[in-house]
Amino acid sequence: MGRHERIAELAELDRPGLEIADFATGMGRTVRAMLAVAPEPTRVHAIDSASSLDDEILHDARVRSVIADLDEPLPFPDSALDRAISLNVAEHLADPAAHLAECYRVLKPGGVLVFAHSDWDTALFASPDDVLTRTLVDRFVSVVPRWAERADGFMGRKLLGLALSTEFELDGVHTWADCHRRFDKGSVSWKVAMGVLAAAKDDPELTKRATAWVEGLATFAAEGRFLFSVTDVAVVLRKPAAQ
Ligand SMILES: C[S@@+](CC[C@H](N)C(=O)[O-])C[C@H]1O[C@@H](n2cnc3c(N)ncnc32)[C@H](O)[C@@H]1O
Repeated sequence: MGRHERIAELAELDRPGLEIADFATGMGRTVRAMLAVAPEPTRVHAIDSASSLDDEILHDARVRSVIADLDEPLPFPDSALDRAISLNVAEHLADPAAHLAECYRVLKPGGVLVFAHSDWDTALFASPDDVLTRTLVDRFVSVVPRWAERADGFMGRKLLGLALSTEFELDGVHTWADCHRRFDKGSVSWKVAMGVLAAAKDDPELTKRATAWVEGLATFAAEGRFLFSVTDVAVVLRKPAAQ
């Protein structure tokens, strides 16, 4: 079971008629995982500041694509949703606590939020050079990528602290690390390695070493001894049921 399937399981999609939101949906991977298990009928609001949903998700009648900035109030009235997912976006938001407060507002009493994030500082790469891997991962978690206004490679471990200062009830805290052995273009490992490479860009000498490091990962993959994982953290929160 992968990251998105685990999130779908934690979302308790246990009855028909649920109104679900996936905040910062990206290509809609979590949406796909939820649609695979949610009893019909169901509706998933797929929210992101940019439109990058896979075609198959975009054209699914159960999905409503919404372009919105999560740094602004959410485009839902109070108590509109049964379930909400916020996966791998908190590090990019100006005020993650305000985002959590908005999630609380738009959930119905008894509604569930799965607040989840990868903790990038835990990135594990099997490579020919462990010391260089450490240097590059350290750099990766301390540099804001060009496409983002802000980032925090330690966000996974901060979710619980953020959650505890809200009015949500804490249902559970989960961590896992998925095993990835592929390193072909477009794979999860390759994408993270490209992020690591990009983080070295301002240092020509380190870029040279990082490029060789990526080649080393590809060699390991060809030999079958490549491994990548990162620890994900998911905090399951419930809006207290109305008295
Ligand atoms: C790392 S991707 C995660 C996508 C998806 N949740 C997943 O795990 O596959 C981060 C997403 O957050 C979106 N994003 C970043 N800042 C945002 C903001 N202020 N409002 C809405 N979406 C935002 C990006 O467009 C991107 O799709």
